[in-house]
Amino acid sequence: MKILAVANQKGGVGKSTVCVGTAYAAVEAGKRVLLVDFDRQGSLSTSFPETGADDGTATTASQLFAEQATIRPEILAPGLAILRADDTLSMLSGVNQEGIKRPARYLRELAKDFDICIIDTPGVLGVNPPMTIAALVAADAVVCPFGVGLYESKALSDLWDYLRGVRANGYNPKLRLMGLIPSKVHTASREEMAALEQLREQFGNIILPLMLGERASVKQAIANRKPVWKGTRGAGHLKAAQEWKAATQYILTNLGVLK
Ligand SMILES: Nc1ncnc2c1ncn2[C@@H]1O[C@H](COP(=O)(O)OP(=O)(O)O)[C@@H](O)[C@H]1O
Ligand SMILES: [Mg+2]
Repeated sequence: MKILAVANQKGGVGKSTVCVGTAYAAVEAGKRVLLVDFDRQGSLSTSFPETGADDGTATTASQLFAEQATIRPEILAPGLAILRADDTLSMLSGVNQEGIKRPARYLRELAKDFDICIIDTPGVLGVNPPMTIAALVAADAVVCPFGVGLYESKALSDLWDYLRGVRANGYNPKLRLMGLIPSKVHTASREEMAALEQLREQFGNIILPLMLGERASVKQAIANRKPVWKGTRGAGHLKAAQEWKAATQYILTNLGVLK
């Protein structure tokens, strides 16, 4: 089982949407998917409502921080399960260094049942609250959607420095920093496209050769709980489908889940 963390210190940049899209793509490819929702806001959880396939004994995401627990993800379908966000996630601020490593341990115990685990994180870095750092400790790789703007350079540098620190400070020396994905890009805005060009020049291949445009069809697809590349209608929708296919295939291949 490969573990992917999706992170950024900002909210609203598309983290949860990237988690959902990557999950759909992995399921379509016949991979067994485990979702972990470490964001109290529960966007990932909302995107995958109960299906009735579970027997009701499932545990939630905050249990991954417990000293002793039996972790039982909620079964959504054969080969698809979730550890949902829960209220206790907002009360984990006291977790120590030991606790930060617990999710990694518990998730490894589930490794034989899944091909990929996707962890959604809240828009915070640091070590407190511990959800993001714990996801990064557990992960094989991290990918970061980001909003494009003239003032993003500092935030992206901070984000990348933090991720390098996670490796350098021994939290997870093997963490692969997959890269940054321009997300919710207003492709009709010349200023924004110029800003993206500038960021690409500055950050080089840290910014992945991908781009997710801000498109109404993405919101619609999320609301309808289906992949944006299914049943496309119109040019904008087709563009969105192409962008999301490319991004999710890139992520899954880079992670080693797809050949
Ligand atoms: N490419 C996109 N085009 C249009 N809307 C998007 C796109 N990506 C995300 N959104 C919307 O933007 C909002 C924030 O996205 P979300 O994934 O929840 O961000 P985060 O998890 O980083 O807070 C959501 O309403 C989502 O549906
Ligand atoms: Mg989110």
